[in-house]
Amino acid sequence: MQNSYKRVDAHLSSLGYCSRSEAKKFVKIFRVCVRGIRLFQTDKKVYHNDVTINEEPLDPETLTILMHKPSGVICSHEDAGVLIYSLLPERWQRRNPKISTIGRLDGDTTGAILLTDDGGLNHRLSSPKSDTTKLYEVTLFQPLKGDEAELFASGTLLLKGEKKPLLPAKMEQVSDKVVRVELCEGKYHQVKRMFGAVGNKVVALHRIRVGEHGVEDLAVGEHKILDSSVVL
Ligand code: URA
Repeated sequence: MQNSYKRVDAHLSSLGYCSRSEAKKFVKIFRVCVRGIRLFQTDKKVYHNDVTINEEPLDPETLTILMHKPSGVICSHEDAGVLIYSLLPERWQRRNPKISTIGRLDGDTTGAILLTDDGGLNHRLSSPKSDTTKLYEVTLFQPLKGDEAELFASGTLLLKGEKKPLLPAKMEQVSDKVVRVELCEGKYHQVKRMFGAVGNKVVALHRIRVGEHGVEDLAVGEHKILDSSVVL
């Protein structure tokens, strides 16, 4: 497990507790202790695991989170509108490195999304080579025609603007307008484009699971911390 050795002011600031310049004031107001001994010198180097604030351990050094994304929030640090990060505790919003989503869901898509401030993990899992499966529940505008599952499983469906056909995807029918689709890739607007390619339209999209991580035990907008060493 990580246990970095850093200056207190730099460490508190990277975890979002206060800015570097506010650190002196912070340690006067809050009981910052190193192995139980109160600390006032903010230029002192300390091990992460030795520090407590008001008898509480510090937030984890790296955070990996599963969130139940609501509709109407955006997976971006820049765009206008309600950003997904605004649903996280304020302190986490000030962390540096920043917490970012692993891949993206559209604004109107709900369900399971992973977020992390571990750049290596994010890079590995959002790479086109990552074979993490994603399970979606899709509500369609029109009833199924009947040949969609076979086409999606064939590995021959070429979406507009793409050079290579999609990898085979599994589709299971739930009712005439509701299906579950399992993908192991994540092209831009992939599910909506797949159904567009067969003359249908997605009216609601919910991601049930990313890898093993489902959101059935999380209310909409809620999150939980995952152990980053066993994420996927
Ligand atoms: N496919 C889409 O079309 N949208 C998403 O948000 C995710 C997958």
